[in-house]
Amino acid sequence: MARNLFITKSLVDLLQEARENKAGLKKTLTGLNLTTLGIGAIIGAGIFVLTGQAAAQYAGPGIVISFIISGIACAFAGLCYAEFASMIPIAGSAYTYSYATLGEFLAWIIGWDLILEYLFAAATVSVGWSGYVVSFLQDFGIQIPTALTAATGSVLVEVPKIGWQELTTNLTTGLASRGIDVNTLPQVTAIVNLPAMIIIAVLSLLLVIGIRESANFNNFMVITKVSVIILFIAIGFAFVTSDNWHPFIPENTGQWGHFGWSGILRGAGVIFFAYIGFDAVSTAAQEARNPQRDMPVGILGSLTVSTVLYILVAIVLTGIVSYTTLNVADPVAVGVNAMGKGMFWLRPIVKIAAIAGLSSVILVMLMGQPRIFYSMSNDGLLPPVFSKVHPKYKTPYISTLLTGSVAIILAGVLPISILGELVSIGTLLAFAIVCISIIVLRKTRPEIERPFRTPFVPVIPALGALICFIQMLALPFDTWARLIVWMAIGFIIYFSYGIHHSKQRINHSKQ
Ligand code: ALA
Repeated sequence: MARNLFITKSLVDLLQEARENKAGLKKTLTGLNLTTLGIGAIIGAGIFVLTGQAAAQYAGPGIVISFIISGIACAFAGLCYAEFASMIPIAGSAYTYSYATLGEFLAWIIGWDLILEYLFAAATVSVGWSGYVVSFLQDFGIQIPTALTAATGSVLVEVPKIGWQELTTNLTTGLASRGIDVNTLPQVTAIVNLPAMIIIAVLSLLLVIGIRESANFNNFMVITKVSVIILFIAIGFAFVTSDNWHPFIPENTGQWGHFGWSGILRGAGVIFFAYIGFDAVSTAAQEARNPQRDMPVGILGSLTVSTVLYILVAIVLTGIVSYTTLNVADPVAVGVNAMGKGMFWLRPIVKIAAIAGLSSVILVMLMGQPRIFYSMSNDGLLPPVFSKVHPKYKTPYISTLLTGSVAIILAGVLPISILGELVSIGTLLAFAIVCISIIVLRKTRPEIERPFRTPFVPVIPALGALICFIQMLALPFDTWARLIVWMAIGFIIYFSYGIHHSKQRINHSKQ
């Protein structure tokens, strides 16, 4: 058997696979469905949780500029994804693209890496979902036992007037500056994050039942979150006090990343998370009716809508309240509070929108992961059980349930910060590889039909890869260490299983 690690999958085979639809997945998604799928995956914890924290800690009102910078970087990667998705409309996303261009070994690496993006993002966002649901229920006097609302072993303290908060150094210093000793407050050590586990279980079951049903649920959630965000922007503009925007870029504190231009850059790195998800559209390529035309529409359309909404929310939010008050888990609700008593009716509506928004992100991430496993298994790199399609529902049900089960465990026991940074580093690596692959494929296979072409190649893909790499460098060393360990596990699996079962290799050695 050939031991060439860079064996590629021929594009002719890939296109044949797409045409034959041996998979038996249902082809029902339209361009609009794909766009809502993208918006479903994009707008979530990033805007509803991280924006305020990044504005308060790093960028001030300049967070608007952070959103523009991060949006441009994602647009570059998005254009590359759109070219690939229209050219190779197969379910595996970046995994498949690199199999056709950079070879099997790198494809395996990226497939393994994508687990960090999809599976871990589902777990991360479900932790944010749990936070919003707990706070929403509390507003109605329903209290979920505190020990069942956070990662195993994390300590929660009851802050007067605010409620239960996770104990962090930031919180301790913040309280100390208000004359409160954290040790005098009631404390609870969490057992598990039960709401986060429940939402993943429910959405996994929905995904098993059907792609159409899941897309309908997603459409409903997207309409809810987008309408409320537009409502917030429209009403919010009336409450803007331009004083809050001065200075627009607060002066740097002397420390890199704390305000000034370096703060804006750091802010861009943090809110990169808000843009993750547009690429999830590409995992549903085999369920699209007309993928060549609709994939670019879905990827670029969802990215554009989300970017515009993000920038407007950031402008309004930092105009209504001083950025210094936004370091909370629900900054948009803080914005509503600042509008005065007359606007309190908007509070529960914003929370419902956040819950809807986060639900759709979890759903689309849980949808993307099994479809990548599905492609990897079809190629022989994972056992056949991963590509088993349910006879009645026509969904990859075993890998959906497996993905759900692992995400349930992660969501129940791990804190959001560890999960979130792993998602960012994994996604950035995937984006960088996709950008590089575009350049490679334009050189090696210029003749292939590309229904959508990334403009200004190689400049745009090269800049896209470079910006992703710079953002990776800005992440903490611990996150790099976890990425390396994760990849090492991937190597072991590839060399002990994938390389021996690869259909591409087996066919190659027969010829
Ligand atoms: N972009 C997604 C979110 O912000 C992952 O929740």
